[in-house]
Amino acid sequence: MLVLGTRPEAVKLAPVARAITASPLFEPLVVTTGQHREMLHQMLDLLQTGDRTDLDVMRERQQLSTLTARLVDGLGTVIRERRPDLVVVQGDTTTALTGALAAFYERVPVAHVEAGLRTGVLDNPFPEELNRTLIARMARWHFAPTAGAAAHLRSEGVPERAVFVTGNTVVDNLLWVLATGTGRSHFTTSLRRILLTLHRRESHGGAMRDMAGAVRTLADREDVEILLPLHKSPAVREVLLPALAAHPRIRVVEPLDYPDFSATLAACDLVMTDSGGVQEEAPALGKPALVLRTATERTEAVEAGAAQLVGTEPRAIVNAATRLLDDPQAYTRMATAENPFGDGHASRRIIAHLAAGLRAPVPAAAPPPTSPAPRPAPHAEPTAAR
Ligand code: UD1
Ligand code: UDP
Repeated sequence: MLVLGTRPEAVKLAPVARAITASPLFEPLVVTTGQHREMLHQMLDLLQTGDRTDLDVMRERQQLSTLTARLVDGLGTVIRERRPDLVVVQGDTTTALTGALAAFYERVPVAHVEAGLRTGVLDNPFPEELNRTLIARMARWHFAPTAGAAAHLRSEGVPERAVFVTGNTVVDNLLWVLATGTGRSHFTTSLRRILLTLHRRESHGGAMRDMAGAVRTLADREDVEILLPLHKSPAVREVLLPALAAHPRIRVVEPLDYPDFSATLAACDLVMTDSGGVQEEAPALGKPALVLRTATERTEAVEAGAAQLVGTEPRAIVNAATRLLDDPQAYTRMATAENPFGDGHASRRIIAHLAAGLRAPVPAAAPPPTSPAPRPAPHAEPTAAR
């Protein structure tokens, strides 16, 4: 049973769902919680699985406590009814936390995809840092995207044999969707193209207003086109729409479907984002990423030189973007940095580890991503059965 409810979970579990569907060893069931409604529905085609149950829990401006309670209840019921052998959750959303908790209560083992990310600050990002820490206490399989994430888990006492470094499935899906050639870029000019996304809860209100001011200042340059696919969250919209929608060089659009977002990312010159997934996708395509947050759990991108942690203070944002737009050497250094998030084969490794862990034979092969050629990254091949 794959449990997912938000846009990034659909993106990152889609290649796992496709690999499970293609394998004769597993019978997939996808449970969508509906934590997101429109933004999730845009993504569901990616999963390519027939058996799907939707809990439809989204309410406008849902409170975390209500959402959590409704999800534990709904997921507990569906797990009791369907009795899966295994529940797979991804990342650190409320859906992931409650999926793990409901499975734990029903004594069904949990596999955690994208395990081990940490900022070390319990309320930043809020509430995700707590969520992923709690999921680690409940999971039996921990699929860490990087060696650094695996090290976090070991340092918290997760046994070595339960931690597997696989790469991030976000790269699998990105390479797959670009190879389908189905998306189109939403940039409309040949100016310098900046792709912007903002949504984090810890930035709602003042910090987001400040960042919008920095974006306006940047757009006053005459040589840029800034594209903002706007998150559906009302707390985000009430700040960003009035601040950014009227500027002639800022285009605010509805959330793009995944093929179009990927094509737009591939066409951009610069990424400015607080998104976790976009921070990982940008280095995979050689796009410099300015991270508009005060902390990141994707430190590998910063260490590799592919991303820069800029913070939320307007002057720092404008300075960092200006430097990249005006200094070709600084730009090239970031654009040619190594992608630390994987080679596009994470899902295949995850399926092989699960097959071994559930004491089934390891599948001979899984569908490889077709193109473009990924940059090499060191990742462990599956060896150990638990
Ligand atoms: C959630 C996740 C966050 C993830 C983000 C990805 C939690 C606590 N947060 O944050 O980790 O990075 O998703 O985007 O799990 N809404 C819609 N339509 C949609 C989606 C959202 O109307 O398709 C609105 C609803 O009013 C909802 C609000 O957005 O109440 C916030 O959604 P919610 O899932 O609670 O949190 P996010 O801030 O989106
Ligand atoms: N994304 C998309 N359309 C958009 C914006 C983002 O398909 O308009 C995809 C993007 O490719 C990435 C994911 O959504 O894989 C990131 O989701 P989000 O930023 O909402 O969540 P986070 O990754 O921060 O949890």
